[in-house]
Amino acid sequence: MKTDVKILAIESSCDETAAAVVENGRRVLSNIISSQIAIHTVYGGVVPEIASRKHLENIDEVIRRALKEADCGFEELDAIAVTYGPGLVGALLVGVAEAKALAYALDKPLIGVHHMEGHIAANYISSPDWEPPFLCLVVSGGHTHLAIVEDYGVNRILGQTKDDAAGEAFDKVARAIGLGYPGGPKIQKAAEAGNPAAIHFPRPCLEEEGYDFSFSGLKSAVLNYLNQQEMKNESVSQADVAASFQQAVVDVLTAKTMQAAKHFHIRKIAVAGGVSANAALRKAMKEACEKRGYALSIPDLVLCTDNAAMIGSAAYSLFRRGEFADLSLNAIPNLTLGVKS
Ligand code: KG4
Ligand code: ZN
Repeated sequence: MKTDVKILAIESSCDETAAAVVENGRRVLSNIISSQIAIHTVYGGVVPEIASRKHLENIDEVIRRALKEADCGFEELDAIAVTYGPGLVGALLVGVAEAKALAYALDKPLIGVHHMEGHIAANYISSPDWEPPFLCLVVSGGHTHLAIVEDYGVNRILGQTKDDAAGEAFDKVARAIGLGYPGGPKIQKAAEAGNPAAIHFPRPCLEEEGYDFSFSGLKSAVLNYLNQQEMKNESVSQADVAASFQQAVVDVLTAKTMQAAKHFHIRKIAVAGGVSANAALRKAMKEACEKRGYALSIPDLVLCTDNAAMIGSAAYSLFRRGEFADLSLNAIPNLTLGVKS
């Protein structure tokens, strides 16, 4: 009897066109990512219409490559999975339409996956023995959530950002100090040459109870600092601003996560989403967890930012539970985490 489950996963929620074949939710047979970064860099950020058009141009080829690299034919697949939200609606629609067409033509089950569930599931690939329950810090360009992952795909949200997401703050501050897009990696690079203690930026929400975050005040503090320096005719060190800003974000994310772990008596911590690629955050989380004897999972770098392998992993638990979508599956740009739509 055939027991292994092979899922073709498609991800097109923002500016990466991606397809992967994942076996049993943990084994990545292929993970193809066609990045549009070079195209959007010219405009200083993602242009939604261009993203959709590029997805359309690339998606067939990306899927073909994913199947070829996995040495897998269409007939060997057990299901087709796709991100249906949250994200840019025009971008999501390309993946959703493609997945529906494939599922219909091949007569295979269709699985709709929440993008952030994918980010969380990246941990199941990078840490093969990792299982719920655990506490997860989910930090991306659109989300900052602290959640208890009670079971596969079952999340209890403890807190979230009240304004900007952590990745959004990285992107906005990068723009303000002239580093451009994509902000996160550029701040990280600039910060390597800077002093994280050079400028004291606020640590928002750290003194407050609860597990919500806020990053727009921190971003404003950076903008105020830049204005003050200009008015005083004093120079600005891009590296020091980057390092000091990054340190403030890392301090808040790490401290809130440790507070929640202590309060809820959870000794397993995971980090997920694009910002989990940040070297300073990875280091701070590692040190904080080692100090307390907590287990830590952070995805490999290629699985932190958008990819389809993570979608294939998240789809596996839905497959096992028989939670399939039908051909009415639609893109939901503002799909929330922790509430089933
Ligand atoms: O998960 P992701 O690829 O897309 C979303 O789901 O939003 O995350 C993208 C975000 C961007 O805001 C980007 O600046 C941030 O993740 N990011 C980073 C790093 N790499 C990506 N932020 C800080 N340091 C990084 N190395
Ligand atoms: Zn993402």
